Amino acid sequence: MKKIPVWFDCDTGVDDAIALLVLRQLDELEVIGVSTVAGNVELEKTTENTLRVLDLCKAPYPVYRGASRPMVRDQITAAAVHGEDGLGGIVLPPASRGVEAAAAWDALYQAARAYAGELVLVAVGPLTNVGLTLTKYKDFPGLLKRVVIMGGAAVGGNTSPAAEFNIFADPEAAAMLFDAGVQVAMCGLDMTMKAYLTAEELDALGDTGTRQARFARACLQRALAYELSLKLPGISLHDPSAVMYAVDDSMFKTHPAWVRVETKGKITYGKTVTDLYSDKKKEPRDHLVVVDVDREAFKARLFELFDRYRA
Ligand code: RIB
Ligand code: CA
Repeated sequence: MKKIPVWFDCDTGVDDAIALLVLRQLDELEVIGVSTVAGNVELEKTTENTLRVLDLCKAPYPVYRGASRPMVRDQITAAAVHGEDGLGGIVLPPASRGVEAAAAWDALYQAARAYAGELVLVAVGPLTNVGLTLTKYKDFPGLLKRVVIMGGAAVGGNTSPAAEFNIFADPEAAAMLFDAGVQVAMCGLDMTMKAYLTAEELDALGDTGTRQARFARACLQRALAYELSLKLPGISLHDPSAVMYAVDDSMFKTHPAWVRVETKGKITYGKTVTDLYSDKKKEPRDHLVVVDVDREAFKARLFELFDRYRA
């Protein structure tokens, strides 16, 4: 089976960390590179966190440092959810290696050229690195097979009533991507809030006993407590669900739609506006909005992928 070449862009916080552990076990993928961006916490921390988690799963992926701040707006973080360190206060051993010399946007573009027409970009943080690549390399979008993001929402928001964190943290970069002419599969809150584990299910994951599963349970505790405090049913695995969607969309529900990002609104700044639920359809309806997931199937797949760490 020919592996799918993929580039993973992240702002390693706790759910990015789980996404990396999932990525490592997805045999369908060939990870060409990983890039880091400021988001959940500052760039130095998201980069070190990424390297440490890759050590935890013995993944040799080259890592490239990206943007330390958004393209236009002021920087925001989500340390209240992920902890000041970004890994829920769980300290992994210092990274055994550093980043590659190239900047994320240069390395990502070179990978897109090397895998022209095949590379799938999976971005689970603010889209600053993508925006910078688009700015510097005009032929970049045409080289990609497709883009899968964790970000946005057809309805609601988790950082403002209108906006989800990854988009709200850099709306201008996100707008560039949705306007770039390459299909974006938006794994937004509409789906990712349904891709959750209850406290009991997360405990059961940790009880499977591998170092990776025990780390997953531990680093998610703070974010779990935050979501439970909002009367939500459990911990939303935003980034892991986007990675799993990129490999197999059969357990997800997806609709083609028009999607653009608000960058001028005062109240709606960072909102992903879609015609999905509007009788006013707009052209081109060139993106995909992922709106649902079979949670039991998602949970079973997650446990199955973590079980592979037993080997
Ligand atoms: O809104 C959730 C998203 O914002 C996730 O990617 C999380 O890691 C944060 O980046
Ligand atoms: Ca993220």
